[in-house]
Amino acid sequence: MDTTAPRVSVVGTGYLGATHAAAMAELGFDVIGVDTDQAKVDALSRGVVPFYEPGLPELILKHVESGRLRFTTDITEATALSDVHFVCVGTPQQRGSNAADTRYVEQAVRDISANLTRDALIVGKSTVPVGTAGRLRGAVSALAPEGVSAELVWNPEFLREGKAVEDTLRPDRIVIGGTSARAEATLRELYATPIATGTPVVVCDLETAELVKVSANAFLATKISFINAIAELCDAAGADVSVLADAIGFDDRIGRKFLNAGLGFGGGCLPKDIRALQARAGELGAHSATALMQQVDEINMAQRQRVIDLALDALGGSVLNKRIGVLGAAFKPDTDDVRDSPALNVAAALHLRGAQVVVYDPEAGQTARRSFPTLSYADSLIDAATGADALLVLTEWREFREADPSELGAIVSGRRVIDARNCLPSERWAAAGWSVRTIGRTASVAALPTFV
Ligand code: UDX
Repeated sequence: MDTTAPRVSVVGTGYLGATHAAAMAELGFDVIGVDTDQAKVDALSRGVVPFYEPGLPELILKHVESGRLRFTTDITEATALSDVHFVCVGTPQQRGSNAADTRYVEQAVRDISANLTRDALIVGKSTVPVGTAGRLRGAVSALAPEGVSAELVWNPEFLREGKAVEDTLRPDRIVIGGTSARAEATLRELYATPIATGTPVVVCDLETAELVKVSANAFLATKISFINAIAELCDAAGADVSVLADAIGFDDRIGRKFLNAGLGFGGGCLPKDIRALQARAGELGAHSATALMQQVDEINMAQRQRVIDLALDALGGSVLNKRIGVLGAAFKPDTDDVRDSPALNVAAALHLRGAQVVVYDPEAGQTARRSFPTLSYADSLIDAATGADALLVLTEWREFREADPSELGAIVSGRRVIDARNCLPSERWAAAGWSVRTIGRTASVAALPTFV
């Protein structure tokens, strides 16, 4: 270990922080993770990750054992030991408003600044409304002790849940905002490994760095709502949105990714980020961005109603006392995260209309039970499907995409499936006697034989 290498603290050990801490250790640095939640710190210290993220428990355990990674609730210990402090706490949507709640970021920056005992670089990674970092600089200079020099820069994180480890170790780009030459050199040292393998570095002002993150998520959300709007048109016109997406996606200015029509986006980032952007753009008088985000959000939320309507239609206009097997609770596959999950939103709405909803998810059963305890849950796909009048595929887990329609057909009460993620091999399901409903694929699905 290079004894001159910067020592790192990571404040906030949720998805972002725990992954970033483990990645920094993997990149060769001594890391201390700080969180106010004692139970989380205890679990992480044993290599136990309190959420499902492929590859992360192994990486944390590896570096807890190597001695390069520790966790604590004591911010003074972390500030005394470290040169660079990454701020990775959450910025949830405020209650009763679209704006982001920045109080945890503000608190973390204040706690770090007030406890510094030596010169430090504070690096914001959390997603914040533009202008937050500039304001935080005031807090840093007001609170840092006499004789200690502290600089605050912004270095947004772009990790996807389910691919967090990969995205952190091998990011698409590294954005560094509002940096001095010295701070830039430190960050280039910390990210030397990905930079050496070709990751581009974008150096910019603080405001641009803050906006890059929300703009990236806003663009992804816009792409999804665009294809969902086109899916509605495809249904009306008798076209197939999946084929259309393939065809337009060959144009590399457009690209095929994030053009899967279906139940739309959810999770802890996209919905809150487009709302926060909408709110902040409104405050700054940038009304085109506000109007665009409003439309993207509306199209997205309407997808949930579309799937509810498909279920009603499939079941003859009423779901009362109908048994519905809901396949999927997580907001997307390969995560147990159910924050703003479109799947649970649909499941709950059908439950409230009197359906007997039985939810199965390969990983998110526990988190879903905690958030929606009034729904019924099954421990297997077979249990969820048994006796069902209809199956709804709401999260495109591999287990569902590869399920055997003949086997499931033998245990349901009615062979009706709503493929709200356009992820099933429709022809195979139809050949096994299923009536298949999709989003924006009326043309190809209408051509399939239907049996109920
Ligand atoms: C997102 C960004 O991708 C990531 O860069 C950022 O740092 C955090 O927010 P994440 O929330 O993990 O990551 O999910 P993502 O993979 O972007 O998916 C978001 C939602 O969009 C999911 O609900 C997914 O089902 C939906 N989606 C995605 C679609 O409906 N269609 C698509 O084509 C792609």
